[in-house]
Amino acid sequence: MSDDITPAGRRPETRHGTRALLISAAAALLAAGAALTFAGSANAASTLGASAAERGRYFGTAVAANKLSDGAYTTILNREFNQVTPENEMKIDATEPQQNQFTFANADRIVNYAQQRGMKIKGHTLAWHSQQPGWMQRMEGTTLRQAMLNHVTQVVTYYRGKLDSWDVVNEAFADGNSGARRDSNLQRTGNDWIEAAFRAARAADPNVKLCYNDYNIDNWTAAKTQAVYRMVQDFKQRGVPIDCVGLQSHFTGGSSYPSNYRTTLSSFAALGVDVQITELDITNADPNQYRNAVADCMAVPRCTGITVWGIRDSDSWRSGERPLLFDGNGNKKQAYDAVLQALNDGVTPTTPPTTPPTGGPTTPPTTPPTQGPGGCSATVSVQSWTGGFVATVRVTAGSSGTNGWRVTMTLPSGATIVNTWNAQPSGTSGTVTFSNMSYNGRLGAGQSTEFGFQGNGVGTGMTPSCSAT
Ligand code: G3I
Repeated sequence: MSDDITPAGRRPETRHGTRALLISAAAALLAAGAALTFAGSANAASTLGASAAERGRYFGTAVAANKLSDGAYTTILNREFNQVTPENEMKIDATEPQQNQFTFANADRIVNYAQQRGMKIKGHTLAWHSQQPGWMQRMEGTTLRQAMLNHVTQVVTYYRGKLDSWDVVNEAFADGNSGARRDSNLQRTGNDWIEAAFRAARAADPNVKLCYNDYNIDNWTAAKTQAVYRMVQDFKQRGVPIDCVGLQSHFTGGSSYPSNYRTTLSSFAALGVDVQITELDITNADPNQYRNAVADCMAVPRCTGITVWGIRDSDSWRSGERPLLFDGNGNKKQAYDAVLQALNDGVTPTTPPTTPPTGGPTTPPTTPPTQGPGGCSATVSVQSWTGGFVATVRVTAGSSGTNGWRVTMTLPSGATIVNTWNAQPSGTSGTVTFSNMSYNGRLGAGQSTEFGFQGNGVGTGMTPSCSAT
């Protein structure tokens, strides 16, 4: 994607209550899903939203308030989608055009419309370097920090109980290979501005899910993806409230669908957050890319929904590229059929969507499995680039399951680990033992989990051995 884009959690006690509800809801869903799956392909769902719902997900679209009076537009919206994201109406310049004077009329039109039809709503977006009103653009420092927190508090409070999730912070990381934060007036208020925004949002509504949203975080090995991953990992470790990560997924000629997209989705999900495809559009609506992107989401239990960034090509922010599922006349395109097929082929998560993902790496294992003495095995797949690599290790329990596991691998000479997820490494070079985290040690017979690490140097020839504890 070009650089010119300017484009759940709760308090602990509430969280447990909600989890219980989620589990019973998931059980009901599973029962329903089983019945629906049994209904079979002869009765495959014929709309995007219905198919996604059968599999416990949503399929949504960005919506513009001024199009809700367009009958052709609303006919498709009502028929196909069960989630909406206001395209511009909840941005900072729209909701607080003058400091402390809030206007919600256009956003409310979308919220009311969606609520009346049982559609989920994602709020977009509370803190962003772009689309700031003039008064905010001119602010810096403590004054800006306070104004931003006030904005988050006021807007989240106003919509308390009405939304499914909020994009709390949007596009806070730089493009390119730096892995750094994007420079902005918000960033210059201090590196903790993102977590401050999330904490303010949680305080204002303990039940709405809080998401970080960004573009160009689709390719797992990209520096920007890794940097966002490390932030989410850090937030989870320190208890900063974050519930979901949105991959915008504006696929263009310059930044098209990556083959490791599923690894990205499952790796974020393994941190204990939901993942969502939040602004999907693809140059010329390539049906294969659409099919693959949707199939990847369906393969990851915690990929809870997909939103396309507009309905008809003529509604798109990049209409010249005809990147959407319906043409300007509202006719279904080939990409529509590909998406519906991928949804209908998708699986209902067989576990409640709070467990680690089963979606594995897209590359085949590069080593044969090794059987550990204590009843587990491990395989590793490596994606390399000049000077670095990412290793994804799949741990599979033997016939008696595990209470914990350790995987030992010898790194090639000169290779060093710079970042590990879902395991605790004993060192950064030479022979390294990776121990399970508190949340992924216990595996049932034959169950798998994944951990990974990023290294400098060359990552070839590593043979993992696994022991269960
Ligand atoms: O509504 C006014 C209209 O009255 C005026 O005549 C016209 C003249 O330019 O502008 C109209 O507003 C435009 C608005 O879209 C509605 O069409 C703004 O200029 C234009 O900047 C705005 O663009 C939006 C863009 O975000 C702004 O950054 C796009 O619609 C919207 O699709 C796009 O969405 C972003 C996501 O929020 C974040 N991720 C990237 C994505 C694509 O850039």
